[in-house]
Amino acid sequence: MGILEKITSIFSSKPKARTKLASQTKVTKIQSLEKKKIPVARLQIGMTVIELDRPWTDLPVLFQEITIVKQKEIDMLQKYCQHVYIDAYSYRTIYADALANRKRNVIYKKPDLTPKQASQNLREEMPRARKAFDKSHKHINQLMKDVERDSHIDINSSKELVSSCVDSILSNETAMFWLSKIKHKDEYTSEHCVRVGILAIAFGKYLQMPRDELELLGLCGMLHDVGKMKVPQHILNKEGALTEDEYQIVKEHTILGYVFLRNHGGIDEAVCTAAYNHHERMNGDGYPRHIEAPLLTAFDRIIGIVDSYDAMTSDRCYRKGMPPSQALSILYKEQGNHYDANLVQEFIQMVGIYPVGSMVELNDGQIAIVLAVNEDHKLEPVVEIITDANHKLIKPIAVDLSKHQQNSKGNYLKIKRALADNEIDFDLEDYVHNAA
Ligand SMILES: [Fe+2]
Repeated sequence: MGILEKITSIFSSKPKARTKLASQTKVTKIQSLEKKKIPVARLQIGMTVIELDRPWTDLPVLFQEITIVKQKEIDMLQKYCQHVYIDAYSYRTIYADALANRKRNVIYKKPDLTPKQASQNLREEMPRARKAFDKSHKHINQLMKDVERDSHIDINSSKELVSSCVDSILSNETAMFWLSKIKHKDEYTSEHCVRVGILAIAFGKYLQMPRDELELLGLCGMLHDVGKMKVPQHILNKEGALTEDEYQIVKEHTILGYVFLRNHGGIDEAVCTAAYNHHERMNGDGYPRHIEAPLLTAFDRIIGIVDSYDAMTSDRCYRKGMPPSQALSILYKEQGNHYDANLVQEFIQMVGIYPVGSMVELNDGQIAIVLAVNEDHKLEPVVEIITDANHKLIKPIAVDLSKHQQNSKGNYLKIKRALADNEIDFDLEDYVHNAA
């Protein structure tokens, strides 16, 4: 079975029983204990409770810290407490598994996929999404300059902008996905940071993370590569292959980013750590410290996946970007070794072979943009046809490919192949802006 078929088979398979990261793995902590206050309603098996909202002696048990392994321990804490303080590291590490096992019907609503509705949803959300996207891009551009000069960065503005991106994505992520497809080669680093933030928020939404976690994850994405501004630009933008020495310098962006964010003050440890660990891999093959799975938080793993996906699907000064399906194949091949296997499978489920906003060529040569992924027919999304068979622009026509529509010659429309971003000469920016 080829990789594409294997990925496709994930869509039709039922969710597998997942291993518990925290309960089965002896976890070495990266740093001293960082506590997080949560309401008792959010307690989960695997969390380590280190402080209560009342003395431990009020409880009918003899301990002063507990790693929850049974439901009855949660029941007991819920009976006696309103909120508790947990070891934040234990929280993040188990998060991906706990969320993946939850039913997906709280905030990830199944979209109405009639072509008309999908098109309308996109156009309604586009003005708000564009405002948040453009502001974020402008802000990250300035922030990168500040990092380069070792100046103070406006982290409160970063948080506000991430929050506005979360608003838009929670409402309808399609518009943000479309905007993320507009790529300018000469602004790779800042655009990449914004895209990683947006994609991370969308992935967190898919995993049903609560809003405060989505905002933190988005900030991790937006700031994960700030250390690149400490790398000489002639090396970062070199068109040919890097020498071994140059590659070693590029790798240092992880450490430099971490040190900058840590020394800046007032920035959540998770954000600093994601900058440090986003190139680390599950089997220790990554850099800079070659640390392995037990030391990588769910946030580090998510940013690692999203960062790699965006880098692979974007044009770089030394190579062209690849179609999304090819990038997903690589993530799939490297799951377990390089990337968290559960998260990769969830990510593939979310993105789909034909992600929203991506371009496809139909079997009759027409070019279309994916408007919405059809949950029951992932290989037959709702698309908007934008060119004729000769690649001449036409008035867009929204079509649900799962409904087996025919073209003017009576042939059933199917996707022939996925296109890489920027593969055809088409002004997506102009098109998206006119879509609002
Ligand atoms: Fe990086």
